[in-house]
Amino acid sequence: MNNQPIGLFDSGLGGLTVLSELKNLMPNENYIYFGDTARVPYGSKSKETIIEYSRQIIRFLISKNVKMIIIACGTASSLAFDTVKKEFDIPIINVITPTAKSIESSNIGVVATNATIKSNAWKKEILKNHPNVKITSKACPLFVPIVEEGLANTKIADSVIDLYLKDFSKSKIDSLILGCTHYPILAKKINKYFQGKVNLININKACAKEALSSLKKKSQLNTQSGKNYTYAYTTDSTLSFKKNAKLFCNCTFDKISQIKADKL
Ligand code: DGL
Repeated sequence: MNNQPIGLFDSGLGGLTVLSELKNLMPNENYIYFGDTARVPYGSKSKETIIEYSRQIIRFLISKNVKMIIIACGTASSLAFDTVKKEFDIPIINVITPTAKSIESSNIGVVATNATIKSNAWKKEILKNHPNVKITSKACPLFVPIVEEGLANTKIADSVIDLYLKDFSKSKIDSLILGCTHYPILAKKINKYFQGKVNLININKACAKEALSSLKKKSQLNTQSGKNYTYAYTTDSTLSFKKNAKLFCNCTFDKISQIKADKL
C-alpha cells in the first residue's frame, strides 16, 4: 500500500476528464492535478516547447512526492512522452498507448489538436497494434479554446463541431477517437451531431485502467479510505479554473493554488 498522491497534468481543464475517470476507478487515491492555464493551448506549440513544459511540470509534481505521473494531455502524450519517460525515474502513463491497444474498429476517425495530428502519434500507435485499420484524422484547433472559455454548451460550439466534423460523413467511420482530453467535454454535442451513429472513444477510460493495473501490479494502491485529498495547481489565476472545473467536469478540490510558470 502506498498513500503518496498520483500526479497528472494538462494544459488546462482537459485533464480533469482523466481525473474523473481515475477517481471513479480509484476513489481511495490522493491526486495532484496540474493545469498549465497560463500557457494553454499546447496544440499550437512546437515539440521542443511542449517537451520543456512537460519536463518542468513533471519535476514540480515529483517535488510534491507523487508515486506516478499521468500525462493527461493528448498533445504532451504525442510529443513529449517518448522523451520524458527516458529522463525521469518514475512510472509515466500517457493517454494514447492504452486506447490504441484496445480499439476494436476497422474504420476509425481521430480528432485532436494540430500538434497531435501532425505528429502522427495516433496513426503509428494504432497501426502498431492493428495494421489493417483505416484511419482518418482531423485537427480541431478551436475545440480547446471553446472549452477553456466556458463556451462548450453554446451555439458557437455547434458551428465549430459542424465545421470540423462534416468531412467524416464521407469517410463513413464507425468510431471516433476523441484524441484530446478536452474533447469529452464536447462529447454530448458531438454525439448529437452524429445522431448517435458513431461510437465515441473516450481516451480517458483506457488510461485510467492502465494506471490502476500498473499500481496494482506493484502493490502501490492506496487502501486507506476516508482521508483522501485532491489538490490542483494552475499557472494562471485559479478563479475561472475553479468555476469551469465544477461546471464542465463536476470537479471540486480540497485546495487550488497558483504557481507562476517562471517558478517551475
Ligand atoms: N488537453 C490537451 C490535449 O489533450 C489540450 C491541448 C492544448 O492545450 O491545445 O491535447
